[in-house]
Amino acid sequence: MSRWHTASAPGKFVILGEHSVVYGKPALVLAADRRITCSVRRSRHNTLNGEPIEFGKQPHFRYLTRNLRHAADFVTRSDIPAGAGLGSSAALSAALALALSSMAGDDPDERYLVDEAYNAELAAQGSGSPMDASACVHGGGIGVNLPGNEDRKLWCISRGGRSWCVTDMDVPDMTFVVGNTGIKAPTAPQVDKVRRFTRRSNFAAEMIEEIGNVTLCGYEAIRKNDVEALGRMMLTDHKLLSILGVSCKELNKLVNAAMPHSYGAKLTGSGGGGCMIALTDEPDKVAAAIESRGGTAYIMKAGEQGARLESEEPVSPLLDLSSYV
Ligand code: MEV
Repeated sequence: MSRWHTASAPGKFVILGEHSVVYGKPALVLAADRRITCSVRRSRHNTLNGEPIEFGKQPHFRYLTRNLRHAADFVTRSDIPAGAGLGSSAALSAALALALSSMAGDDPDERYLVDEAYNAELAAQGSGSPMDASACVHGGGIGVNLPGNEDRKLWCISRGGRSWCVTDMDVPDMTFVVGNTGIKAPTAPQVDKVRRFTRRSNFAAEMIEEIGNVTLCGYEAIRKNDVEALGRMMLTDHKLLSILGVSCKELNKLVNAAMPHSYGAKLTGSGGGGCMIALTDEPDKVAAAIESRGGTAYIMKAGEQGARLESEEPVSPLLDLSSYV
């Protein structure tokens, strides 16, 4: 039997800047303490978690195995909920790209992994920014298109007339609680919805611009460790995202539930369902408030390590693979 090659990558949550980042605006993102682990070994047949793999239904696998000249067994295990705005698609892509590189005897750098993960995401969801892929590969904290910060530059990626310069960012010493609505909401329809809106209305384009400004103010607040100012920016951002049409009543309900004990709260990721985050000094109270309104809460430990090789043999999968986007 061939040996297993195992890699893992963290999920992520967006403090500020989702959606507007697709149009080249700034964003602030932290790696989350939830990971996807992916194992691969040479085999006689292609299998995924013990079943024959249907590449047609698994675009990340189809893209990332495009140069593989032999069959392989894949095993995935995830504690990142899928379709929840926590970067499951990018984390899967990053972990799989690293596991495949290891099987090929390569020792890839982060830049290679980001390109692979971003292209796999594009293959799966059609369009978007390299923000999630960058956060899941690099881990810790990242900024996108922030002014200055030349000395902390990681990479710049251009696509379709847009450019994203990604920098390493200190992980703020602040507490975030995540609330999951439990509603699965894939990224692509939300990104398409905003794109259609921007095409038919200048107003939407102004909202995108405004989210960019709010994100820059939020970045200043993080640098000054000013939780109150950051919280205000988060709530403003949630309102702007709601106007763009990517919130929903369940997200608004959890944001409202969290607010009495929070500096700020907002949806995180592509919206339409999925998760919200709250910035708070009272995480237990916020978690209880979220749970009392039907959400699933957990207190996030931010700044998790990026994509890495693991020595472990694969363990049985936890989540279904029906959708990673
Ligand atoms: C999804 O996590 C973030 C979006 O901004 C899409 C993207 O950046 O590709 C909504």
